[in-house]
Amino acid sequence: MALMIWYLQIFAYIYLFSPLVETVDFSYPAAFNFGDSNSDTGDLIAGLGIRIEAPNGQAYFRQPSGRFCDGRLTVDFLMDAMNLPFLNAYLDSVGAPILQKGCNFAAAGSTILPATASSISPFSFGIQVAQFLHFKDRVLQLLSKGKKLIKYIPTKEFFVQGLYMFDIGQNDLAGAFYSKTEDQVLASIPTILLEFETGIKDLYDQGARRFWIHNTGPLGCLPQNIAQFGKDPSKLDDLGCVSSHNRAAKLFNLQFHALSTKLRGQYTDANITYVDIFSIKYSLISNSSKYGFEQPIMACCGYGGPPLNYDSRISCGQTKSLNGSSVTAKGCNNSSKYVNWDGTHYTEAANQYVLSQILTGKYSDPPLSQKMPFLINLKF
Ligand SMILES: *[C@@H]1O[C@H](CO)[C@@H](O)[C@H](O)[C@H]1NC(C)=O
Ligand SMILES: *[C@@H]1O[C@H](CO)[C@@H](O)[C@H](O)[C@H]1NC(C)=O
Ligand SMILES: *[C@@H]1O[C@H](CO)[C@@H](O)[C@H](O)[C@H]1NC(C)=O
Ligand SMILES: *[C@@H]1O[C@H](CO)[C@@H](O)[C@H](O)[C@H]1NC(C)=O
Repeated sequence: MALMIWYLQIFAYIYLFSPLVETVDFSYPAAFNFGDSNSDTGDLIAGLGIRIEAPNGQAYFRQPSGRFCDGRLTVDFLMDAMNLPFLNAYLDSVGAPILQKGCNFAAAGSTILPATASSISPFSFGIQVAQFLHFKDRVLQLLSKGKKLIKYIPTKEFFVQGLYMFDIGQNDLAGAFYSKTEDQVLASIPTILLEFETGIKDLYDQGARRFWIHNTGPLGCLPQNIAQFGKDPSKLDDLGCVSSHNRAAKLFNLQFHALSTKLRGQYTDANITYVDIFSIKYSLISNSSKYGFEQPIMACCGYGGPPLNYDSRISCGQTKSLNGSSVTAKGCNNSSKYVNWDGTHYTEAANQYVLSQILTGKYSDPPLSQKMPFLINLKF
């Protein structure tokens, strides 16, 4: 009975507040996303024509889905919470992708700084923004020719009312540590952020007004970085994460946050939300058992066994000959107990936790409004 009343109250609450929400103007007709593998829904593999092997995708899509994950990414959960469909990757052209409610320019391995010959992804931030501008021009051209494609492409207004999301910067820092000292990495942060600012300015000049920025996570806690830079235990913090990498991520985020505050002052007719993903992920890794996880650091899918189950020579799902014997980087059979999927990326379970924390509003600047439809659209 008590439960019933509780349900009715919740229902009344939703009923009462739903109409209000519409007028608060917090529902987005579309979303455009820019970033790296944290939010790549298939762009890199389409762009380079490469494959991701099973067990990637096993927990949700039942097959590799272009994501470096066993299932959904935080951006997928975010789209779901906003009542929007999963984003199609810009470069994935087969099958008449429906891009009406948005498009994803994020590509795994991408950096904010321009790519070089040795970059994993040629689609660095400036290119992603250029791709968006091309996309927008094409859409406007097609719209001017009639209504035939209206189901597949955004309307002109969606480019103003849509949400522009960003999750990029991790590869700039992680990559730099291979050839630079910590001081040099730290000193390069303003240059990286200047490039980010240029991209935001281009989007603003093109009419973008709603920005959603994720800061960078604790990259020192990724098995890939621990394996390479944490061989000397004095380099690790008490969680077993590489201290230098997390220091770089924190300084990057401090300056990133300052930049978003500056942009908010500069673009007074825009809304810029900065989300502290670092704190969410670090707290998950610190207190993983409290949130239902058993392995905060060790990769679920990899080769080598504890403590990291990571070998840079074989990526998740691959079989290779090492030392003359054939070995496979296999997945664990309980990935929902792991925070880390493949040494570099988070599991679907961790991504879902990240979204649940974003939705508390506590990690956003400015804090999320109580009236966000997000908060009543939860469907886990
Ligand atoms: C920014 O947020 C305020 C407060 O919710 C809202 O009134 C305004 O319409 C928003 N502006 C844009 C461009 O979304
Ligand atoms: C982990 O949990 C403890 C106890 O609740 C809390 O004091 C601590 O701040 C948490 N650590 C992080 C990084 O959130
Ligand atoms: C390869 O074989 C050598 C010699 O047997 C051994 O010392 C080494 O640990 C092996 N490496 C791997 C990755 O198995
Ligand atoms: C999950 O798998 C790991 C490694 O295979 C194992 O140690 C752990 O006990 C498993 N946990 C559950 C809940 O099955």
